[in-house]
This record gives sequence, C-alpha cells and structure tokens, in this order.
Amino acid sequence: MARTTPELIAAKRDGHALSSDDIAQLIAGFVRGDVADYQMTAFAMAVFFRGMSPEETVALTLAMRDSGTVVDLSDIPARKVDKHSTGGVGDKVSLALAPMVAACGVAVPMISGRGLGHTGGTLDKLEAIPGFSVDLSIARFRELVRDVGTCMIGQTAELAPADKRLYALRDVTATVESIPLIVASILSKKLAEGIDGLVLDVKFGSGAFMKTPEQARALARNLVDVARGGGKDCVAWLTRMDRPLGRTVGNALETIEAFELLHGRGPDDLREVTLTLGASMLVMGRVAADEAVARAMLLAAVADGSAAKVARAMVAAQGGDPRAVDDPAVFPAAPLRVPFRAAATGTLLTIDTHAVGIAGVEMGAGRARTTDTIDPAVGFVFERNVGDKVSTGDAIAWVHARDEASAARAIERLTRAVGVGEGAAEEVPLVLERVG
Ligand code: URA
Repeated sequence: MARTTPELIAAKRDGHALSSDDIAQLIAGFVRGDVADYQMTAFAMAVFFRGMSPEETVALTLAMRDSGTVVDLSDIPARKVDKHSTGGVGDKVSLALAPMVAACGVAVPMISGRGLGHTGGTLDKLEAIPGFSVDLSIARFRELVRDVGTCMIGQTAELAPADKRLYALRDVTATVESIPLIVASILSKKLAEGIDGLVLDVKFGSGAFMKTPEQARALARNLVDVARGGGKDCVAWLTRMDRPLGRTVGNALETIEAFELLHGRGPDDLREVTLTLGASMLVMGRVAADEAVARAMLLAAVADGSAAKVARAMVAAQGGDPRAVDDPAVFPAAPLRVPFRAAATGTLLTIDTHAVGIAGVEMGAGRARTTDTIDPAVGFVFERNVGDKVSTGDAIAWVHARDEASAARAIERLTRAVGVGEGAAEEVPLVLERVG
C-alpha cells in the first residue's frame, strides 16, 4: 500500500532509503498539487541532512524528468551530445563549443540557464546578440538541431516542471547545497533534452559553487553515476574557477570573446577548456576514435571556417544578426571604459572570483533579483591574470560601465578582490582530471 506524504517525509527524516515508487509518488503528487510546497520543502530539508543513495538519486532524477515532456530527437541520425557546466565567472565555453562540435557532425541540443547568483548564464550572453531569441518552441528546437546541428534555448514550462518548482522552493529554504538535489535538478533537465550523452564541466575554486577539488570530485562522481543510471553516456572534467575564464566578464564582452575562438583567436585557457570538452563530445558522438583525433577535427573546423558557418546559421535561425559572429561592432558597447589599476607592485597572487562575479552583477551584468534586467554591454576585460607581475598603476582590468558611479563601485569591489604580493602564485591546473 502506498504510504502517505507525511510517512515518506518521516522515513527520509529518520534516514531510511525510499523506493523508486515512493519517490515517483511524491514527485507526481507535487506536480499535481496534492503534495503541498511546505511538505516538499520539509522533504528537501530531510534530503539535505540525510542524503540519498545512488538508486534514490536516479529515481528522483527520472521522476523529475518525467514530470514534463521528454523531447524525442530519435529521427535525427547524428548522435546528440550536450555539455553542462556547473557555472562560473567568464565561462562562455558553450557559445564556441556548440558550433565547433556541430560542425564535426555531432548534434548539440542545448537547453541552457540564466545567471545564477554570482555566475553568468549562457542565455543572457546569447541575448547580447541583437535580435537573438532563446524562447523557441520545442518543435522549432527540434528543427534547428536537425537542420543547423545545434540550437540553444531556455527551459520551457514543459521541461522538467517539477525541477522548476522545487528549485524555487530550495532557493528560499537553504536547501540548494545538497548533492542529490543538485544532481537531480541538473540531470532531470538534461535527460529531458533527448540526448545520447552528456559531457560535464565541474568547476572548482573561488568562483565556483564547489570551492575545493574534493567537493567538485564528489559532485562529478554523483552526476556521472546518475546520468549513466538514467541510460546516458557521461563523463565529467574538473576545471579550475579560481580566476575568470578567458579575459572577459559580462554578456556582450564574453560572447565576442567566445566567437573569437571560432576564428582561431582568443585566450589560451578558454581554447583549452573548449577543446577538452569538445573532444569528449566528439568521442561520445562516435565521430572520432579518440581525443587526439577529436582535437584535430575541432581545430580543422575552426581553420576551414565550418564552425563559424554553423554559428552564423544558428544565430540567424534564432532571429539574431549573424554578423555578430565576425564583427564585435554589432554588439552593444558601454559608454565608459575605466582602468582598474594595481595599487602595489608584485605578483598577482589571487583573484576572489566570486567577488568579481558580484561586482559584475552589481553593474548590471547579472541579476540580484529575478525581475532585474540585464545590461548586456557592461563588464570587465582583464589585462592581467593570476601569476602575472604587476607594477603600481598598471591596468589589471578595464571596467566597461554605464556611468561613473557604477564604475567606481566596481573598482572598489575589484580592489578588495585581487591580492598582489611577494612570491609566486599557487599553481592550479586548468584541467585537473577526468571523472568517468
Ligand atoms: N543548477 C541547477 O540547475 N540546479 C541546481 O540545483 C544547481 C545548479
């Protein structure tokens, strides 16, 4: 006999494992409105303290996936592989990666998010392209994945609605930071996309949600196991987020920088993370025998212009100005560029990347409240990075601001965010390891 909702909450509260049927019943009841928000919140807090077994996490993920539409892309002959990043500052990888991978013959259906907390979101970056729409129907999404090779949209009301509602509750009840809840939240949406496989970029460092490699490793292991439990290929890479990725932070600035990669330019760290993740996607997509071959294919797609061609086709098909892929002048630009100068001579030892993200949000590059509007033009361009020598007065970064007051506030935050001193900066590998 099915147990009541209070019995299920009590079982988890007391540390017992729930069956797949228990979990399916709870999530179905939540979506129908039979399980109240306060009951779901109590359940989330019980999970927060008691955790979940791998089997329970798989059951929660699948129940949340099945709370809405599961997109069927099985009529598209190419393998479908997506990438997900756990989020960071300056992480614009998806914008270059998706067209590069699609140009090599693997379809990339990408349902992305907006900025969360101090981190940026792919949708906000795409919307810096004049005219670009991320609000397409699932039918149009399918068409573009088939005809262009990639499409990037936001979560619709039909996809994993249980996650959308549970996430909103977690956000205001101190239950976000729970590995099984994070895993089920991320993967329920990804498994609803109709993909064959998923490559994960799990970030660690001051700008990531997981501050240490150990925490990132635990999340990566759980994500990989649960995705595989849900029947998908999955690997994860641990990559550093102890400094912004690339040189730019802010939506238009980041999109311009990502498109630079498609022309064979752009910063080395951004290129390396993009190639690492892209190579795994090509192997998973079964168009490359190994990662060395895959890297060569990705570089060839840049060199022969085919990656940029896919990007132009995607931008045009989503209502944007395709010249954005080639011409930074298409993007909105901030009226002010103010240098953030080093206050001392020495080595740039640390960048509190969370604080850089917050400084960007405060200027309008992200949202402090869900109703805030984004200013696509504002942000930072870094001239120096961790490990570089600086002298007093050198420009560490340029602040692209709407007005003098917001530039001054950002400079105040950046001043507190960077550490300049004697000696060498700690060496942190850009790509730490692969999980799975
Ligand atoms: N991103 C999500 O989609 N869900 C979480 O719980 C955390 C990050």
